[in-house]
Amino acid sequence: MSSELRQRHKPSSSKPSPKTSTSTPSNNARGISILDILRVLATLIIATLGLSYYMTGSESVLFGYRPWFTRLPVVLRYIQGPLLLTPTELSLYNGTDPTLPIYLSVNGTIFDVSANPLVYGAGGHYNFFTGRDATRAFVTGCFKEDLTPDMRGVEEMFIPIDDPEEEKMLSSGERKKRREQDLRIARQRIQTQVAHWEGFFRGHKKYFEVGKVVGLEEVIAKEEKRELCTAAKQQRGRREGGGSVKGKE
Ligand code: HEM
Ligand SMILES: *[C@@H]1O[C@H](CO)[C@@H](O)[C@H](O)[C@H]1NC(C)=O
Ligand SMILES: *[C@@H]1O[C@H](CO)[C@@H](O)[C@H](O)[C@H]1NC(C)=O
Repeated sequence: MSSELRQRHKPSSSKPSPKTSTSTPSNNARGISILDILRVLATLIIATLGLSYYMTGSESVLFGYRPWFTRLPVVLRYIQGPLLLTPTELSLYNGTDPTLPIYLSVNGTIFDVSANPLVYGAGGHYNFFTGRDATRAFVTGCFKEDLTPDMRGVEEMFIPIDDPEEEKMLSSGERKKRREQDLRIARQRIQTQVAHWEGFFRGHKKYFEVGKVVGLEEVIAKEEKRELCTAAKQQRGRREGGGSVKGKE
């Protein structure tokens, strides 16, 4: 095995080395000049760019790689600084006015989603997310009832339904402690969901961050506290294995 390798290796490395010694000047007819290397490199680069252009359907010579500074709207926004809009101002950017970009907001951060008018433009599947901060709907999935930044009461969605029989056996202290733990976990899950969608828009190739909504707190304070929407209530799981375990399921 090793002798075979050595045999194969030996002739190939020993044969050409005396002839193509690159340390000799390039006026040697058989040597490889710098120019030759450049020619080969240039050919390779052009071939690669061409291949990318062909494979991406004449869209990109870099296989779809677009650093942020090659995107004009992103550069303009960077130069102008973050855009600050009130909820009323933001409502204009809902895809109805074709001269305006389409914006949506997650947890107070505004993203430009104009690149996807089929989904976000007038008549699009997710047009209801635009022109507003609908963070609550991003978590509950209730796209009719929950188009608001008001997150009060969403915790319930992630708090398991108690078995009344089992709960009777707990002391009030134990119940309180469990309630606090439930709330902590629920808030964590909401954070994770919101962060997921914020990250989705921030990391998306075609969308970009434009700024912040100002005055969301005032809007929330004016709203009535709402019930958790029905669809989200139905998603709630049952408590399993907390405290004293019951036989059922
Ligand atoms: C909490 C629940 C949900 C949220 C927050 C949500 C949110 C979204 C968002 C923001 C997009 C657009 C992605 C983009 O910009 O490219 C999207 C796309 C999509 N979602 Fe959902 N979605 C949810 C549940 C569902 C469900 C249950 C279905 C299936 C019935 C669904 C079907 C789709 C489809 C087909 C698309 C592709 C774009 C389109 O055709 O409109 N989504 N979703
Ligand atoms: C978009 O906003 C404008 C102005 O606030 C409003 O007249 C229009 O009905 C809204 N369009 C949709 C689809 O909500
Ligand atoms: C939402 O924004 C507030 C600050 O505006 C921040 O404290 C909070 O952690 C954010 N929530 C998530 C889920 O990122």
